[in-house]
Amino acid sequence: MVEKNEYYDVVFMDMTHDGMGVCKVEGFPVFVANALKGEKGKIKITKVNKSFGFGRLVEITDDSPFRKEPICDHFNECGGCNIMHMNYQMQLDFKKYRTKETLKKLGKINTIVHETVGMVNPYYYRNKAVIPFGEENGKMIAGLYKSRSHDIIDMKKCYIIPKITTDIVKFLKNVFVELNIPAYNEVTGTGVIRHVIVRNSHKYNDISVTLTTLTPKLPKKEIIIKKLTNKFDRVVSIIQNYNPDNTNIILGKKSRILFGEDFILDEINDVKFKISHRSFYQVNPTQTEELYKKAIEYAEVEENHVVIDAFCGIGTIGLSVANKVKEVYGVEVVK
Ligand SMILES: C[S@@+](CC[C@H](N)C(=O)[O-])C[C@H]1O[C@@H](n2cnc3c(N)ncnc32)[C@H](O)[C@@H]1O
Repeated sequence: MVEKNEYYDVVFMDMTHDGMGVCKVEGFPVFVANALKGEKGKIKITKVNKSFGFGRLVEITDDSPFRKEPICDHFNECGGCNIMHMNYQMQLDFKKYRTKETLKKLGKINTIVHETVGMVNPYYYRNKAVIPFGEENGKMIAGLYKSRSHDIIDMKKCYIIPKITTDIVKFLKNVFVELNIPAYNEVTGTGVIRHVIVRNSHKYNDISVTLTTLTPKLPKKEIIIKKLTNKFDRVVSIIQNYNPDNTNIILGKKSRILFGEDFILDEINDVKFKISHRSFYQVNPTQTEELYKKAIEYAEVEENHVVIDAFCGIGTIGLSVANKVKEVYGVEVVK
């Protein structure tokens, strides 16, 4: 019988979809963060459910040759990245394996999965960052949540979003402190600033900033706009989104433009897109181009073909293939 707070020596024989090591203690599956397949180690059981448990890695006694020291100091606590302890080749192999497993288990499809196409520089790529704001010991903080919690890690550096995004978040935090505009407190349901959402264009300089607020009014909004646009001339769009609900859903129903227009321009495979603060848009622009090129190659389209882009979002896939075929239809629930 596996007991909470007990220590066990284990071998990790698999990994979960989100990168936790899987081991068995007396035949009982236990999931452990920061452990890799093939490693041996000592764990402490932290939670026991009916058919599986969780443990904390106390010590690795035999480490994997594919382990890499994570570049980010926050890796062990931050919920943003979960496979940074693998070297990049292992990350790519892991994604291929997860794809094959998911197709097999959920789709009942047993097929060949090719090698994952990786990036040359897999850092600072993410074109959208959604950053919750909060308070800790009376001090405003902003950053990603700790894994499986709503505890915010005050952001100092982040390796997956552009540096300017981090700079904007830190700058706004200082502005809010200076102007005495409090962060939202989800326990008491008070405060003003819930999230700052920053979107960057890959091909152009455009940046949009969305401030989600608990209150319909954003105090001192003219000063905020002035400070932000004076400091960052790449910011072409500032939106306030009002979300009064006690919910994990980030955007409320109502938004208004505070500065510029509600879009940034970007380009994928030579097609220009206007991306609003609500648009679904793939978050890794470099790999999006690669992905779409591959999809078009595999589809073997011909000039007389009609393409249906189901679940098309703003139509990025369909429009990337539009100049190669007769017609494209996009099907999307959001007008
Ligand atoms: C994950 S996004 C993918 C968008 C696009 N294909 C891309 O790769 O950028 C899925 C899209 O499906 C849309 N969607 C969800 N349910 C739908 C439905 N029942 N009918 C049409 N579109 C739907 C969503 O609004 C969303 O834009």
